[in-house]
Amino acid sequence: MTLKEKVLSELVLSAGEYRSGRQLAEEFGVSRTAVWKVIEQLKTQGCKIDAVTNKGYSLKEIPDIYNQNYMEQLLKGTGFQVQHYEEIDSTNKQAKILAGQHAPSRTVVTADKQTAGRGRMGKSFHSPTGGLYFSVIIRPDLPLTATMSITACTAAAVHEALKAFEIQTEIKWVNDLFLNGRKICGILSEGSFNAELLKMEYLVIGIGINLHEDPHLPEELKTIVTDIETETGKKINRCQLLAEVLKQMEKYFDEISEKTYLKIYTENSCTLGHKIRTDTGLTGTATGFTEEAGLIIKTDDGTEQIISTGSAQILE
Ligand code: BTN
Repeated sequence: MTLKEKVLSELVLSAGEYRSGRQLAEEFGVSRTAVWKVIEQLKTQGCKIDAVTNKGYSLKEIPDIYNQNYMEQLLKGTGFQVQHYEEIDSTNKQAKILAGQHAPSRTVVTADKQTAGRGRMGKSFHSPTGGLYFSVIIRPDLPLTATMSITACTAAAVHEALKAFEIQTEIKWVNDLFLNGRKICGILSEGSFNAELLKMEYLVIGIGINLHEDPHLPEELKTIVTDIETETGKKINRCQLLAEVLKQMEKYFDEISEKTYLKIYTENSCTLGHKIRTDTGLTGTATGFTEEAGLIIKTDDGTEQIISTGSAQILE
């Protein structure tokens, strides 16, 4: 940890109390000037720090800067271990490397920014600084068909996590979260299948949530994509949201065989009841979900079809 991270950590964990520059300097074996310098850097990064003579420094609110100690405090009692990067090509790519090197289930990779964020169907996922991007390694002991429901289960978990911040999203089959009719979150699950044992060795579940307006959002995405701050005026702390999503994932994954996620998934769907077109060109009305979150469609020629993979465009 750098001195800046250590000082921030102390202030975050002191929860609004004053910590003197002398104390901090002694604790970290540096001069008071060195402490003062990092306090100034933190202020320029947007940290609201109160400095009072003879009392010291105190944080006025938890800043939206990744902090390992704070993250660990938020995740106490869960089995998640988070690795953070300021910048990375793709957290999914890194998580797959770690999974291949036997990283345990519940290892999480997060980054402030991705330079080559990956989306479904070979698309890219625009990931500028300010959003929440992370990938979770899991090693599910589930039949292969059940692993298909993991993306849908994750969508329900993210929906519930955002609800804890009073943000009401809708779930578009299979893996997008929408706010006021536009996408704010995408989920990409990738995995490694062991053909000899006929089971998944690991799954990497990647989640990207748009938190703030992106001034460089590509033109073609402007009518499709939005962000939480633009729609609600809320600035959400990324460590707090990451911890909440992970806790909800833990809850719904533990209950996956009881299908509790399916109720949330169904009640908050913006696909059901709508006329849709699948990426394979099938058109019809979305009438329900299977036990594994496959989409049931009443097609225009009157037959019922189930689609388990791919995507669906809402027509009306
Ligand atoms: C989609 O909407 O098509 C899925 C987008 C998934 C994006 C997330 S961001 C974190 C993780 N790392 C990636 O490269 N992709 C996923």
